Amino acid sequence: MPEDAADLVSLNDFEERAHGLLDPGPFAYYSGGAGDEQTLRASREAWSRITLRPRMLVDVGDVQTATTVLGTEVSMPVLLAPTALQRMAHPDGETATARAAAAAGTLMTLSTLASSSPAEVASAAPGGPRWYQLYITRDRAISQALVDQAVENGFKAVVVTVDAPFPGRRERDLRAGFSVPQGIDAPAITAALGRTGGVTVEEFFSIVDPTLTWSDLERFAAECPLPVLVKGVMTGEDGALAVEHGAAGIVVSSHGGRQLDGVAATADVLEEVVQAVAGRLEVYVDGGVRRGVDVVRALALGARAVLIGRPVLWGLAVGGEQGVASVLELLRLETANALALLGCASPQDVRRAHVD
Ligand code: FNR
Ligand code: LAC
Repeated sequence: MPEDAADLVSLNDFEERAHGLLDPGPFAYYSGGAGDEQTLRASREAWSRITLRPRMLVDVGDVQTATTVLGTEVSMPVLLAPTALQRMAHPDGETATARAAAAAGTLMTLSTLASSSPAEVASAAPGGPRWYQLYITRDRAISQALVDQAVENGFKAVVVTVDAPFPGRRERDLRAGFSVPQGIDAPAITAALGRTGGVTVEEFFSIVDPTLTWSDLERFAAECPLPVLVKGVMTGEDGALAVEHGAAGIVVSSHGGRQLDGVAATADVLEEVVQAVAGRLEVYVDGGVRRGVDVVRALALGARAVLIGRPVLWGLAVGGEQGVASVLELLRLETANALALLGCASPQDVRRAHVD
């Protein structure tokens, strides 16, 4: 961690610091959204428009942040979203993230486009709970090989991302002329493609199956040895379909505003999805969560937990494993503080009536 780390007292501070440290190309890729970035901006703003309704004279002398996700115990209702190519932020990449998540007692999701393999992540943090994010590929042998690696390496669930049959138009990448730097590899992909190194984001997306439908998803979930979550649901209709087609959980997500620009902020569609699902599976949410108060807002609207994407990349860029650890600890402290001031001794105590 840098010597003046005392200045880093919020996730926003990490973002600002990381901006100064990262090369323009990787910063564009990490920070950017699609099109005019309407959804990217709205994702953060929407949380701040949800006002809290704190209750007084509740015993909050002993606030616990722990909860469970698909039956796995985690130290807080904050998980790590899958983000690609973490070695652009720090040489240790996903292995540093895995160690920080395990030390914090929470769960990390490894991207299909990770710059570390499932085996490397498992050996870096053997005890840490982890999910594997999967893009189902046109050639099913590729995605099947990835599932096999996830199973062999102790991942507890597969998170199928359904909002990216093609990548969004990300203009920051175009303007910065972003390409994956020499020496950064996506080993799960190059192994599956029978190559070493040099895979580009565009090339990667060309192997993703854009013809996938709910019935393919159902078949996949029926055959998958691990529970399957569906990431990228943005409507009550699709929430209900996910239940009907064998999902064990849903991540309400706009992919951090990187896919279809103009979709609503996830904060604004979370409740619609929660209502459609009606308790039949666990609902998670990501997009613009930067504060403990955002975490309790998501809980009040029915999310089991939130996931954070970019803040982990900022932590990595600023201080590798220690930087991610600091980001997670800040959000844990803020969440505990928000729970206490809201009049809740645990995440389980947060009710719909705690927000307007
Ligand atoms: C992502 N996200 C993502 N999602 C996914 O399913 N597979 C992936 O490989 C990636 N890669 C990725 C790279 C980068 C640089 C970003 C910023 C995001 C989306 C991610 O999982 C999550 O949905 C959002 O990042 C959440 O929004 P915040 O927390 O970044 O605002
Ligand atoms: C992205 C992909 C890899 O958002 O999901 O860049």
